[in-house]
Amino acid sequence: MHPSGAQLSDADTDMNFHTPLTIALSKGRIFKDTLPLLKAAGIEPVDDPDTTRKLILDTNHDNVKLVLIRATDVPTYVQWGAADLGVTGKDTLMEHGGDGLYEPLDLQIAKCGMWVAGFPDADLAARRLRIATKYVRAARDHFAAKGQQVEIIKLYGSMELAPIVGLSDLIVDLVETGNTLKANGLVTLEHMHDISSRLVVNKASWKMKHATLSELVEELRSVVEKG
Ligand code: PRP
Repeated sequence: MHPSGAQLSDADTDMNFHTPLTIALSKGRIFKDTLPLLKAAGIEPVDDPDTTRKLILDTNHDNVKLVLIRATDVPTYVQWGAADLGVTGKDTLMEHGGDGLYEPLDLQIAKCGMWVAGFPDADLAARRLRIATKYVRAARDHFAAKGQQVEIIKLYGSMELAPIVGLSDLIVDLVETGNTLKANGLVTLEHMHDISSRLVVNKASWKMKHATLSELVEELRSVVEKG
């Protein structure tokens, strides 16, 4: 029984999933924003994702499972074929590198920007700037493209703290509302990338399960385009 009380079955949707599919999602914002898209494409979890402790969720299709993993692990699960497809932020994808993955669709959800940020009077042209970030690859590429030598300090969160305690001169981080920067006396200094969540598909699955996967991608594309 679905949490809404409705009994759902394959017959309720246009798509028939004759091929088993595993979809990798991470809990949190991406998951919340992805559920309505999957629902519009006819896929709904049977377990209540807000309360369940399960890591593999059944859906209204016997053949379709959702696996709930850490956001940064989604590209890895899909790359190795532990999931056929997944939803992941462009930021995570850039750090992963995208090996073994197709990225057929921008889902236009969880939109934000990747920025260089720091104190308003920070000197972006200073020599040997220290940059604290989770996004080591993106930061390295950004400053290398400007021909600037920087030291990158890898952090796993709360990057805003780094300039305040003198750990770094600048940070590279995601900015959505700008509230976290503002609350810590920091500002955006340089835009790096527009970020949104992407659908990623395992390359081998794309060949082996092409009919089902391409139909699902097109279904999702039309949902995204309708807004
Ligand atoms: C993200 C990001 C910023 C904040 C930006 O952090 O790293 O800290 O959100 O959002 P805002 O511009 O709307 O304030 P998240 O909450 O994902 O935690 P993290 O520190 O673990 O990255």
